[in-house]
Amino acid sequence: MKWFLWVALVISLDLSSANSISSYNHYRLPAALRPQKYYLRILTELKNPDDLRFTGNVQIVIKALQNTRNITLHSKNLTIDESQITLRQIGGGGKKDNCVSSTSVNPAHDYYILHTCEELLAGNVYILCLPFSADLNRQLVGYYRSSYKDAVTNTTRWLSATQFEPAAARKAFPCFDEPGFKASFVVTLGYHTQFTGLSNMPVKEIKPHETLPNYIWCEFEESVPMSTYLLAYSVNDFSFKPSTLPNGALFRTWARPNAIDQCDYAAEFGPKVLQYYEQFFGIKFPLPKIDQIALPDFSAGAMENWGLVTYRETTLLYSPNHSSLSDQQNLANVIAHELAHQWFGNLVTMKWWTDLWLNEGFATYVAGLGVQEIHPDWQSQDKGILTALITSFRLDSLVSSHPISRPIQMVAEIEESFDAISYQKGSAVLRMMHLFMGEESFRLGLKEYLKLYTYKNAEQDNLWESLTSAAHQVGALAGHYNIKTIMDSWTLQTGYPVLNVTRDYSAGTARLTQERYLRDSQIPRSERVGCWWVPVSYTTQAEKDFNDTAPKAWMECSQTGESVPTTIDLLPGPEEWVILNIQLSTPYKANYDARNWQLLIDTLNSDQFQSIHVINRAQLVEDVLYFAWTGEQDYGTALQVTNYLQRERDIIPWKSALDNLKLLNRILRQTPNFGLFKGYMKKLLTPIYEHLNGTNDTFSSMQQNEVLLKTLVVNVACQYHVSDCVPQAQSYFRRWRSEPDPDENNPVPPNLRSTVYCTAIREGTEEDWDFLWTRFRRSNVGSERQTILSTLGCSKEVWILQRYLERAFDPKGDIRRQDSLLSFQAVVSREQGFPVAKSYLMEHVDFMVEYYYPQTRSMARLLPPLCEQIYTANDLNEFRAFVNKSQQSLKGVEQAIQQSLEAMVTNVQWMDRNYPQIFDSLQRNL
Ligand code: BES
Ligand code: ZN
Repeated sequence: MKWFLWVALVISLDLSSANSISSYNHYRLPAALRPQKYYLRILTELKNPDDLRFTGNVQIVIKALQNTRNITLHSKNLTIDESQITLRQIGGGGKKDNCVSSTSVNPAHDYYILHTCEELLAGNVYILCLPFSADLNRQLVGYYRSSYKDAVTNTTRWLSATQFEPAAARKAFPCFDEPGFKASFVVTLGYHTQFTGLSNMPVKEIKPHETLPNYIWCEFEESVPMSTYLLAYSVNDFSFKPSTLPNGALFRTWARPNAIDQCDYAAEFGPKVLQYYEQFFGIKFPLPKIDQIALPDFSAGAMENWGLVTYRETTLLYSPNHSSLSDQQNLANVIAHELAHQWFGNLVTMKWWTDLWLNEGFATYVAGLGVQEIHPDWQSQDKGILTALITSFRLDSLVSSHPISRPIQMVAEIEESFDAISYQKGSAVLRMMHLFMGEESFRLGLKEYLKLYTYKNAEQDNLWESLTSAAHQVGALAGHYNIKTIMDSWTLQTGYPVLNVTRDYSAGTARLTQERYLRDSQIPRSERVGCWWVPVSYTTQAEKDFNDTAPKAWMECSQTGESVPTTIDLLPGPEEWVILNIQLSTPYKANYDARNWQLLIDTLNSDQFQSIHVINRAQLVEDVLYFAWTGEQDYGTALQVTNYLQRERDIIPWKSALDNLKLLNRILRQTPNFGLFKGYMKKLLTPIYEHLNGTNDTFSSMQQNEVLLKTLVVNVACQYHVSDCVPQAQSYFRRWRSEPDPDENNPVPPNLRSTVYCTAIREGTEEDWDFLWTRFRRSNVGSERQTILSTLGCSKEVWILQRYLERAFDPKGDIRRQDSLLSFQAVVSREQGFPVAKSYLMEHVDFMVEYYYPQTRSMARLLPPLCEQIYTANDLNEFRAFVNKSQQSLKGVEQAIQQSLEAMVTNVQWMDRNYPQIFDSLQRNL
């Protein structure tokens, strides 16, 4: 009795100190301890929908590297039963038990700190055992709940899944939650026998639960050393489709049973691209199996957990009867991206989140190579690079952009780094390196790097070392150049340069200077500083060699970081153009003197236009239109370039043009002279619309790239009422509406659905909207549901749009949390929807922040489509006042707000500078 009392007293003393705040406030864990192995046991309860929860126990094998009295690890929103914590020393003989005298926390960094009775000694290994429990949350991060409706029984089925990147493993179990603390994991999941348990590794053993009837313990094999953010597990009642891959890892694709027939494409594509990477990286996939699973509720697009890759339904499932070619290409790209991470990210991981771009930039770049290999007819690499360049060019022309390599101190900052700079600019600079180093040295350097850091962590300098040594070995880089000097100018510096090319036509030379390219035209030239090492490739009208992307010259930077102007020679005379940056191999813009532009315009507007490489045609369109946007060129020149589009039949220049012309549309559509712009668009679009047979269902006889081009062209054609586009689209929709069973039979060709639905809703009635809404609710196909959500925002009726937004943010409604962003974007990006969505955001900002919590990334994504349409000083001031007032709620969204404000300022500048002159230019080119 006495003994019990004593224990109770000790425990209560422990608890009394549990909430004391620790003085340890550094954002990184101390280096005194290293976890080596985790034994993680988790029992998941999915029986009672009102009490979905898990209880677990983790044993962490920890090696002491320095003497210490504290064990600092991460834990968030977990209940830890402190009376059950144990700490033992392994081996060493003598006294093996230690104890925890008190605990403290630091909520700013999610630290949970155990203070030990005795000092832990360097060299010793300890086992720390912590029991914990929590609800399966609704936030789509950590260990969370998801559900779907079973079509047969019409009941809700529950499942559980994890999303740990970047910093949510700590919400599922106490751990050292930093990418540098790699350890091996032995996971054991407990669950009811009606479910299946999945984790990174294959099942080792299944045993009945000791006390719970019909429950089992499923133990998985021990994992390879890996970071906590890559751990994953799920308890579900899904079905799977196996893939057959000779000599390869066991490969399975999982989905809810009713969607298993949509797994065929992913099951076929996944193993193929995995095999390609094995050969490309020269390292076999190291795990015995890989599962890919489509989760009904999922916050990101997909997640590369090692051996258990998780996806949204729309990024894994494909239905030939409902999904478009663009949906299919998108999912191939996502699968290729996540599987590339199995090497870049999983096998070799960044030391700290500062180098996140090494993960995301690489996966983005390599995915393009993977898809290209398996579907050469998709031209996915070229399309990918153009998109990457255009998106990063936009963001990176803002002063409030950031370098690729970005110091990180708080979790919110990690989230902010998953942006176009890490993904798109990261991928663009890697391609640049690939092209200037050449195939052999690039591959050799990569293989070396991956081999050297297998199961370890690395930073960008380590990559530069491997690549420099490979390049020198192969002779691909002059001995006095090194990759670090070149690449640091691209990864440590914000922005990108514009190269101004001034030709001396009689001397046959051109002088190249560089400065930072900025959207804000009021920033003086003297402040556009910066120097980038630019590999300069070029060709001339006589030569027209667009295959050789190797640099013919370099623009260098001095020791003090100043640009050294360069002159290139052996150029032709005044009758021939010069083009810089073959196939857009380097992320910079090129501006020429007026004569060179005129020569280019002449060739583009002749039947010789195809003598310029298709990517460089896209480059000329992008550069000149964006120069005009920021005042570096006049619209007269820009529109003479775009006039050539009447001849263009390739998707890549069209994508470039439409992306840029969209900016004009957004601003001009609310101005009195919009008719002129519409006239110009019709002039450009009519020939290609006719060439592609308008809205006729001619897809089966077309090449893949033409299919996409048609999808793109028809979509804008209907927006500008080109030819018969609108009535044809309406007639497809009417045919669908008159089907007796529209959920079974949809006569609209999948590649036209987006256009048809949007046009029909825009020009249609309340009944049309309700019809489409009902189809959304009943559809079993993710991509179809996504298309519908994006087009329900096309309505012109303010009240319908308001009702739509309310439905989008109704926690109990039909639109999942992850999809409400699509609805908001669909509404805000349209003329009539813009003011509706703007007021909705301003009135409900607190609620929306709460709704997305803790995903600040979702909140950040609401802003750009809104701000792109603000171009008057009044609206800008209103937005400023709004963010000032809502500062507290908008914590973690600061970067997006800065970027939005700056973008709006430049829109206002555009109005002042260009509005008066653009209509003249349009009139002259009609
Ligand atoms: N590692 C990311 C997933 C992720 C994103 C985790 C943001 C945490 C925060 C994954 O590899 C990824 O990049 N997913 C993309 C889709 C991809 C194909 C571009 C995403 O979710 O947007
Ligand atoms: Zn990724």
